[in-house]
Amino acid sequence: MDLPAADLHHGRQRLYFHSSEAMPEVPDRSVDVVVTSPPYNRGKRYHPRYSDRQPSDSYHALLDRVFRECYRTLRPGGTFFLNVGDSGTDQGKAEAVVRTAQAAGFHRHQTLIWVKSLLGRGHFTPVRGERNFSNVFEYVYVLVRDPPPHLDVLRVGIPYADKSNVGRYRSSDLRDAGNVWFIPYSETTGASVKKGHEAPFPVELPLRALRCVPGATRALDPFAGTGATLAAAEALGMEGIGYEAFPRPEVIRRRLETPVHVPPVLLLPELERALRTLGSLLSPSAGREEPPGPSKDRWEEARYVLSRLRPERGPGLPGATGGRRGPRSRRRT
Ligand SMILES: C[S@@+](CC[C@H](N)C(=O)[O-])C[C@H]1O[C@@H](n2cnc3c(N)ncnc32)[C@H](O)[C@@H]1O
Repeated sequence: MDLPAADLHHGRQRLYFHSSEAMPEVPDRSVDVVVTSPPYNRGKRYHPRYSDRQPSDSYHALLDRVFRECYRTLRPGGTFFLNVGDSGTDQGKAEAVVRTAQAAGFHRHQTLIWVKSLLGRGHFTPVRGERNFSNVFEYVYVLVRDPPPHLDVLRVGIPYADKSNVGRYRSSDLRDAGNVWFIPYSETTGASVKKGHEAPFPVELPLRALRCVPGATRALDPFAGTGATLAAAEALGMEGIGYEAFPRPEVIRRRLETPVHVPPVLLLPELERALRTLGSLLSPSAGREEPPGPSKDRWEEARYVLSRLRPERGPGLPGATGGRRGPRSRRRT
């Protein structure tokens, strides 16, 4: 299906630089999956012409118009991943946004939690004062145009830590990773602002969402920002359509031209065992009979985990059967 000429075209990605309140370039029921994060109406400085602190009524009226366009353009069974967060002092906003999407016709399928920072890894905007905890997570609402949703969660599955589970529930070494997605921010908000945008999400977030939808070939982001959703779509060989009313084309172009790297999945029990193994190798008693040093298995596992810690060279985008396999499962084959 051909689309009209875009304001920015890169690979399979097209961006239209006007408000997504009307998306006349996109035919009815032609999109498989929408992934977006709307403005949060919290005073971000996206552009001098845009006020991100509007009266609640006009903010929700804007979202309503955009969400109705998303509904029109999604195909039956199509999925809508809506990312929105509260702040430490502004609770309940995300819930109001998802209700606006429901009023536009969407069915609420599931709520995912996206953790931006945990135990010192990742970044978050600290709340002022000492009466509130800072907000280190946001929501990703999984909405559907018409149930049932077209999803396969194993496409973003992880391997079992305990390999004796392989074959108990399913034959492959792949399990559902759960509804909490830990995708740490690699840079602070200050660093993002310097690069030209106040509120990008990490490209791994849309990447994970898009990979859950089997057979999807066309994605839409009505609030494209830096173009992270389209960068993910390009990495997966999908067509992408983005709308951005206050574009910074050079920032978008840079995002689209930057290769997408996915950090390896490191299972915490594997990492902990590997650290214990290294600890026992480095301990003064290592090499003596008592206490015993690490077994051959443990040593092999430690070496394996360390090799996973090295930076990835390629994009490393596994598909449906994509979980990487640990040393034990390799031995079995
Ligand atoms: C939270 S940001 C999205 C960031 C994006 N997910 C990323 O990773 O870069 C919201 C974006 O919506 C844009 N925007 C605001 N109103 C809009 C409208 N009516 N139509 C299209 N874009 C709009 C803002 O300029 C901002 O870039």
